[in-house]
Amino acid sequence: MQEKFYLTTAIDYVNGAPHIGHAYEKILSDVIIRHKRQLTDKAFMLTGTDEHGIKIQKTAAQRGISPKELCDENFSKFESAWKELEISYDKIIRTTDEQHKKTVKQIFNKLLENGDIYKHSYTGLYCAGCESFLSPKDLTEDGLCPNHLKKPEEITEENYFFRLTKYKDKIADYIKTHEEFIQPSFRVNELLNQLENIEDISVSRTRASVQWGIEVDGDNSQTIYVWIDALSNYITAIGYDINNPTEQFKELWPADVHVIGKDIIKFHSIYWIAILMSLGLPLPKTIFSHGWITIDQSKMSKSLGNVIAPKDVLKAFNLEKPDAFRYYMASAAPSGRDGNYSDEDFKEKVNANLANNIGNLLNRTLNMLVKYFDGEIKPEFITDKNNPIAIMAKNTKTQVIEAFNKYEVSEASALIVSFADAVNKYVTDNAPWTLAKDGKTEECARVLYNVLEAMRHIAIMLYPYCPNISTDILNQLSQKTDFKYTNLEWGGLKAGKITEKDKIKPVFLRLDSEFAADKKKG
Ligand code: MSP
Repeated sequence: MQEKFYLTTAIDYVNGAPHIGHAYEKILSDVIIRHKRQLTDKAFMLTGTDEHGIKIQKTAAQRGISPKELCDENFSKFESAWKELEISYDKIIRTTDEQHKKTVKQIFNKLLENGDIYKHSYTGLYCAGCESFLSPKDLTEDGLCPNHLKKPEEITEENYFFRLTKYKDKIADYIKTHEEFIQPSFRVNELLNQLENIEDISVSRTRASVQWGIEVDGDNSQTIYVWIDALSNYITAIGYDINNPTEQFKELWPADVHVIGKDIIKFHSIYWIAILMSLGLPLPKTIFSHGWITIDQSKMSKSLGNVIAPKDVLKAFNLEKPDAFRYYMASAAPSGRDGNYSDEDFKEKVNANLANNIGNLLNRTLNMLVKYFDGEIKPEFITDKNNPIAIMAKNTKTQVIEAFNKYEVSEASALIVSFADAVNKYVTDNAPWTLAKDGKTEECARVLYNVLEAMRHIAIMLYPYCPNISTDILNQLSQKTDFKYTNLEWGGLKAGKITEKDKIKPVFLRLDSEFAADKKKG
């Protein structure tokens, strides 16, 4: 058994409904945590929503409702989207939670007390989309925020500032000496360059400009700026308290991984680390940044009208369970790189891999088991762990674990699918139907055993991506639905009657795309 594993996701802004970009991150994270739970009983996933700031304040004002009403309305959309996608988080935090607000005030005070926060009058370019001041160097040639393609607003205010420059060298040192800290590692240089030019950062806004936020304790002219508020969720959610942290906090902190998008690496790898250094807390093991999802190769945006909600995809393809979408999203891009969603590609990929490759393999083999052996596995036909398929199963398991250790979620799914490919080829090469016809009963039975035992392995390894399909596979094999990796030992599929003709059902049906695409437009 491994040690504890604490994973966090970014917390989403609730000024709109969840889209498949948000879903991408939560699915990746869920696949990782489900995999870790296969190895340890102490895996914990935190997600949440980021509810304060000027954007929420403005959207609520436009709608004529209170910011809290807007947050409640959108929070429930996120909550139900994650339920529909079967995101198995252990806790969902809202930054409007009382406990969180109380601890953020404490944290702010502690930083003040340490001399790391000071008051300073400042003129800067504020991007409400980023909820952050940008330096002129960050802007596009047209003077726009590179992430939101909007012109930042020039603001002059007296704010509290955090002495980021004090921690600059220490952070650079940490990044350079901890290989596993920034993942994927191709982000390291970009980050070190950003660190070179870092300045102290504003950590509050005047109450006059931002009312929707946590007040600075003892200074009601200032609101704590959203990033200190937001980043602190990773510790407040598990019971951090300056004087009296909970047992849960002591057990889980530091985080093993913060899963975030590539646009917010700086906040996590520089700002958050400096805050933790100031608080004297241990640092997270890894900050894993994923790429962005585009739609039909374009950036998702309200103005382009191409924002897709995860529930739209499930509805369009008539999917009662999220497995196909989870699988597709989790394998949409190489680790850390951008990926793309298109209806066509979705349909093609899940039909090829889930329906044809995996689903059909199981179906055909179970049918042969019924036809030639009355659905029964005899003890003498159980193969030994040195046969080529068993060795391949073992190697795949090792490689999948290694891939997950590097947060290569898509790469791990490809390993599972190529194992299924190899087993398909093994069936073709060994033609059990010919063996049966030629009276080579024993040989035929061994081939079928190899395939079904391989399917059991595939079901377990595929479980983090497709929990329902994997459950169905194990049910079809009459196995208990226990997905722990300790079950990945060759020979786990025991002798006995495992199926009958009318019990065999496809575990995944091909998607009918024309129908789906039409439905979606309607
Ligand atoms: N509230 C901040 C995060 C604070 S974490 C302490 C925020 N919110 S967000 O709603 O804008 O984004 C939430 C997460 O979704 C981020 O990690 C972001 O990178 C990710 N994504 C938003 N759009 C995305 C895509 N189109 N594709 C993939 N991920 C995307 O940033």
